[in-house]
Amino acid sequence: MSKYLGRCKTGRYLTVLSFFLALFFVSTTSAAAEKGRLYVVGMGPSGPDLTAPRALSVIESADIFLCSPGMPKKFALFKKYIDPAKVAFNPWKEVRSDALRKLKETDPKAWEAGIEKGRKKVQDFIRDKINAGKTVVIMDGGDPCVYGPTLYYLLKGFDPDLFEVVPGMGAFNAASAALKQSLTPDGERFILLTAPRSLFGENWEKDDDILKDLSKYKTTMVWYMALRSLDKVVQRFEKYYPKDLPIAIVYYAGYPDKEKVLRSNLGNILEDVKKMDEWWLGLFITGQCAK
Ligand SMILES: C[S@@+](CC[C@H](N)C(=O)[O-])C[C@H]1O[C@@H](n2cnc3c(N)ncnc32)[C@H](O)[C@@H]1O
Repeated sequence: MSKYLGRCKTGRYLTVLSFFLALFFVSTTSAAAEKGRLYVVGMGPSGPDLTAPRALSVIESADIFLCSPGMPKKFALFKKYIDPAKVAFNPWKEVRSDALRKLKETDPKAWEAGIEKGRKKVQDFIRDKINAGKTVVIMDGGDPCVYGPTLYYLLKGFDPDLFEVVPGMGAFNAASAALKQSLTPDGERFILLTAPRSLFGENWEKDDDILKDLSKYKTTMVWYMALRSLDKVVQRFEKYYPKDLPIAIVYYAGYPDKEKVLRSNLGNILEDVKKMDEWWLGLFITGQCAK
């Protein structure tokens, strides 16, 4: 009998213990589940018709947006998705203000310190919101991994476990569709995505041997952020390429009403480009696909 009672007591203890263990487990897992998340979302080259469904569903469930003022406006044109009331602030102002830009030339150390301070402000804000269980979304044009400023500037050093990247259609996809060409026509060895600052340096301090080497091969080159320094880019090409090298500039790729393709060649591009009045939103493309 006493043996039986002993077993009952043990059984009761075990039941109580497992109850508390279950309670502990539920409370810790739900605390973890309550944590928020950051999404770096590739918005595609233009409006939501070229934004991936996965990106749109993340946007719909977001609590907070960090983006440039242009992004909600761009999507408002399509009467969709980004609730302006959820936009916290423009994170780029923290790392790319005019004041910081000036410092870059006059006092590079102070410029770096300024960027670091801005980055910390943005990252602290995001971390606080994640801890409060919020879904934060940073929106990048095109694809975040191709010359996207978020991964490059804002999230340097940020814990990768706290965020996900949602891929987007890049400008070069929309631009090649506008050209109605494969970027790898016969004989072309590769497609190279680049920008003046990548190939020639922030202050054009790098030599152009690499371009000389590339000129030995049939290559499609897609240049980002090249329009504002087109004359310098063309000067460098002229050293190694013939005047009939096909060049196209695709402006506003993917925008139903604004997309334009300018087809030209190395000899004429600087003259032809004067007809266009856009120095940012265009891709400079060289190679046979630009014909
Ligand atoms: C900071 S980069 C961003 C690139 C973006 N992450 C992507 O994947 O397309 C900005 C440059 O991308 C190019 N660009 C972006 N969107 C474009 C579009 N819709 N049409 C043409 N060029 C575009 C321009 O060269 C612009 O100067």
